Amino acid sequence: MAVESSCDETSVAVLKNDKELLSNIIASQVESHKRFGGVVPEVASRHHVEVITLCIEDALLEAGIEASQLDAVAVTYGPGLVGALLVGMAAAKAFAWANQLPLVPVNHMAGHLMAARQVQKLEYPLLALLVSGGHTELVYVSEPGNYKIVGETRDDAVGEAYDKVGRVMGLTYPAGREIDELAHKGRDVYDFPRAMMKEDNLEFSFSGLKSAFINLSHNAQQKGKKLVKEDLCASFQAAVLDILMSKTKKALKSYAVKTLVVAGGVAANRGLRERLAEEITETTVVIPPLRLCGDNAGMIALAAAIEYEKKHFASLDLNAKPSLAFETVEE
Ligand code: KG4
Ligand code: ZN
Repeated sequence: MAVESSCDETSVAVLKNDKELLSNIIASQVESHKRFGGVVPEVASRHHVEVITLCIEDALLEAGIEASQLDAVAVTYGPGLVGALLVGMAAAKAFAWANQLPLVPVNHMAGHLMAARQVQKLEYPLLALLVSGGHTELVYVSEPGNYKIVGETRDDAVGEAYDKVGRVMGLTYPAGREIDELAHKGRDVYDFPRAMMKEDNLEFSFSGLKSAFINLSHNAQQKGKKLVKEDLCASFQAAVLDILMSKTKKALKSYAVKTLVVAGGVAANRGLRERLAEEITETTVVIPPLRLCGDNAGMIALAAAIEYEKKHFASLDLNAKPSLAFETVEE
């Protein structure tokens, strides 16, 4: 059984025989956070407390499993909001202690990546482009469980940039999906900057793009000029995808890998999926199904199965690590 509570989804899943998800209960709090235009950490923690026990009960019920039949309890211990993480961890620890089960600590980003195991058996070494609300990174995985960052964002995460420009356009949080839809109805006419795209490294930067978007919107507003929302979205998304695609291709040239995994909330992006299908032809591309792209405990269970094999267990004094990160490799 796996527990995830790092941000605004409380989720519990049951995994059988390494790959088969028997249940994956997700209680989203997004409705509560919408009116604030983003996740309010204290509100998130309180919601987790309210539903975590119910989620555990539901996950076992749906899986048709008794606690006594479980082998281990996995839990996300970072990265994420500290208060939110602590709720899931307290629940997982209590459950593990009461049922005499080993506790498997899981990195949330490893979860996003390993959600790809649900699609097919992964061939190693592999490269992963992880794109979420808090992270944008290229990760080299030499073998199951061995993750190394080979490139990441210097400032904003790509999902964060989507949500911020969405806010400027008056869209509801989180705005990624709506921008993606609007982008498909517009044209790339505003010519936004593609920061660091030509530079010979695997670093990303999205804050300049975000500022360019905000400046264009404010200038137009002051002059009483109307901008076409669909074109704004198409232009923003074209810049984002150009950057993601060029850095991913660069990484594939530097690292000989058998598989490219693209995962995280932003991997739900239709534009990104289209460009990957068109432009990455020599490496097998694996993208988790939509239901496993956003935060969920199923992905945590899929990553935990690898740690379980290696007997990577934690004691009950395991602490939350809000800034937990994979090791970084200097180029
Ligand atoms: O991985 P995730 O569910 O949560 C974090 O761990 O951060 O990612 C959430 C992010 C949000 O910023 C959301 O706007 C973005 O994923 N997102 C998208 C799409 N669907 C979700 N961004 C672009 N296009 C989408 N279709
Ligand atoms: Zn996430």
